Amino acid sequence: MCSIATSRTHEPVLIDHSKHDHLSSLGRPSEFAKFWRASGTEPTLSHTHRESKTCLNYDFTPLSTAMASGKFGNVKEISTQGYNDHAQSYHDWTQSRPKGLEIRQNMVSKLLDELGVSEGASDKIHGLRVLELGCGAGDPITLRLAAHPAVATVVANDISSSMLAMLQTSLTKAGKTSEDKVEILEKDMMAFDFEPGTLDAVIGLYSLIHLEQDQQVEMIAKISRWLETSTGHLLCCFASAESLGKVNDNWLGMRAFWSSLGTTKSLEMLKSAGLEVVYQDVIHEHGDAEFLWVIARKAGTVG
Ligand SMILES: C[S@@+](CC[C@H](N)C(=O)[O-])C[C@H]1O[C@@H](n2cnc3c(N)ncnc32)[C@H](O)[C@@H]1O
Repeated sequence: MCSIATSRTHEPVLIDHSKHDHLSSLGRPSEFAKFWRASGTEPTLSHTHRESKTCLNYDFTPLSTAMASGKFGNVKEISTQGYNDHAQSYHDWTQSRPKGLEIRQNMVSKLLDELGVSEGASDKIHGLRVLELGCGAGDPITLRLAAHPAVATVVANDISSSMLAMLQTSLTKAGKTSEDKVEILEKDMMAFDFEPGTLDAVIGLYSLIHLEQDQQVEMIAKISRWLETSTGHLLCCFASAESLGKVNDNWLGMRAFWSSLGTTKSLEMLKSAGLEVVYQDVIHEHGDAEFLWVIARKAGTVG
């Protein structure tokens, strides 16, 4: 059963209570009630029976409403402009932080282990199709994936043309074998789709954090559909502290938006999307926030 939450001023949002009752409890009712009180409007709720497949949104309407009303501005625009104008400085910053690079590399090694294709393993598995969301300049991770013998395709997605131009330069230097494996996809990660069960791995390193809370829920549900049942894996990170959304006007010189459901609710979100967490760790990075790192497997029966 679904319901449609509406307010006097906003578009309806479908809520599938039969599938997501536990998710509907995320952040509810206190935070959202607080928001509605602050915004001076009250949501109204009407119940209806609907096809459950289309019900991807829960009761996060107030945050989207905050975006639409300009509370944070357009988060997609903030990321596009920020990373387009500061691609090189973000890249220089990441390269100057060996610990951050080590964490990325370690997490990808763990993912490759889970996929059964760790370096040095037998080459029984090959032809893997990997999607990297918000890959940035791709150094070192996209390049590492492209050079891996078990990987056939890396779909390298980013919203920033400047970041992807840097990736293209690195790929050209890396050589034809790597270059041929990478499909560059310049788009908002919310704005494309894959056939169900067609990806072996999805990776999002410090990128889902730039989405609104409700977009993260929608994105995780999509990723789960895209992954191959029982063998497909997701590697990503979330800020460990819950945040309804925050714009920093001067992060490395640029404007940036982040939000997070926090550790507990992010783990619930993954489970609700049909993903089984096989690895989790909360890591505090010096000079940065604390992140929940997760590797999750698309639940299902093998065979
Ligand atoms: C913090 S950087 C991380 C880059 C890289 N994954 C890394 O580990 O260094 C976030 C990246 O996500 C991209 N991004 C932000 N919002 C996005 C969106 N909605 N769709 C696709 N990419 C997005 C940014 O352009 C940026 O390259």
